[in-house]
Amino acid sequence: VSHDLKEPLRGARAFTKLLMEEYADKLDDEGRGHLKTISESSSRMTRLIEDLLNFSRIGRIRQVEPNVELNEVLSYVKKNLQYSLEEKGVDLKIKGDFPKVMCDRIRISEVFSNLISNAIKYCKKGVKPVIELGYSDKGSVYEFYVKDNGIGIDEQYHDKVFQIFQRLHAKGGEYEGTGAGLTIVKKIVENHNGRIWIESEGEGKGSIFYFTLPKT
Ligand SMILES: Nc1ncnc2c1ncn2[C@@H]1O[C@H](COP(=O)(O)OP(=O)(O)OP(=O)(O)O)[C@@H](O)[C@H]1O
Ligand SMILES: [Mg+2]
Repeated sequence: VSHDLKEPLRGARAFTKLLMEEYADKLDDEGRGHLKTISESSSRMTRLIEDLLNFSRIGRIRQVEPNVELNEVLSYVKKNLQYSLEEKGVDLKIKGDFPKVMCDRIRISEVFSNLISNAIKYCKKGVKPVIELGYSDKGSVYEFYVKDNGIGIDEQYHDKVFQIFQRLHAKGGEYEGTGAGLTIVKKIVENHNGRIWIESEGEGKGSIFYFTLPKT
């Protein structure tokens, strides 16, 4: 399937490139502009297909292990994000000692990684990003949260942001991304029989992403 989806686009891109390289001087500025648009659109389409393919693969749970040490998962995620954390001067607080849970360790690290990346990305200009991770024991489930002091999300969009390619801050190209992250996160959480939701006081007031994982 992957090949079938990508091949026609590869052809379109190759011929656009050929036109740009070998026929550019036979076209006027307007024509060259159109070619550039075709080239940019097909690059974007390629990225969307990649995401779609990753989406169909990534959410899938491969290897569930009992007693996955979430402290270890978090230090791994933190190490992977070290560069962006330092670049943005993030104060990352991890509250308490995280529990051991039965889960697919790779997938759950993707959940934390995506949520923390978003918290870093959607911070407020001129405000030091403070991100807090914590959890509480709710009996049969653990409830985890990732809280930021960033730009916040208006309540009307709390479901929408989990849909694929839905982005609230895409205009102006200020924030890079394709809008697949939270869709993948939701799929992973639900494949673990958990739930995910957002709390935010609204735009400009930070967000909290909550998700649950059953204890067993
Ligand atoms: N912590 C946050 N604070 C404010 N807005 C957020 C936050 N996390 C997500 N959003 C909004 O939800 C949208 C969807 O998030 P999602 O992670 O799915 O996509 P993305 O970050 O745009 O791209 P990517 O696929 O690279 O993750 C974002 O474009 C942004 O508008
Ligand atoms: Mg994201």
